[in-house]
Amino acid sequence: MMQGHEEFLEEVLITEEELQSRIRELGAEISEDYQGKDLHLICILRGGVIFLTDLMRHINVPHSIDFMAVSSYGAGARKSTGQVRITLDLTASIRGRDVLLVEDIIDSGNTIASVLELLKTRHPKSLQVCTLLDKPENRETEVPIHYRGFTLPDKFVFGYGLDIDEFYRDLPFIGVVRADKYIPRNP
Ligand code: IMP
Ligand code: MG
Repeated sequence: MMQGHEEFLEEVLITEEELQSRIRELGAEISEDYQGKDLHLICILRGGVIFLTDLMRHINVPHSIDFMAVSSYGAGARKSTGQVRITLDLTASIRGRDVLLVEDIIDSGNTIASVLELLKTRHPKSLQVCTLLDKPENRETEVPIHYRGFTLPDKFVFGYGLDIDEFYRDLPFIGVVRADKYIPRNP
């Protein structure tokens, strides 16, 4: 039986209202910067999905979207390694397009760095990064971040697309887990 999130929620770090108002600002910034360009949003599944769908509704220049999924090699559940494997590739070519990678969270930076390296080989016209959350304390690989929603301390967070063992992505806020109260689903 799954626990309700109330049982292990330590605190709400970012409320639904704070998220929505920041995402509106990011959408406005992106709309301004990408006027007249061939904007193509790429979302890395699955964490970024909620952010993407909210963000794109605040982008008022024409744009398309695509998805990819990656998994890190030999990683524990909460720590990524230096290398990623593509488990679902893009549908459309990005050659000559103005690509904006939309991510939920950048922690070590390893995931996004590998994805950027790969996408560069496909010759987009431009390639930039938009992340909702940035946890810079754990950075192992430097990554350029062009749009950043919030900077967070080094705590494991969940909600608004981010999972704990694949659950709780639906919550409208970003919360911190009380590790001593959470019962792992697959221990
Ligand atoms: P990185 O490669 O260490 O930057 O990790 C990026 C990925 O790790 C994100 O796309 C998330 O899927 C996951 N991740 C990192 N920190 C958290 C967190 O606090 N909560 C949930 N997922 C996280
Ligand atoms: Mg993830």
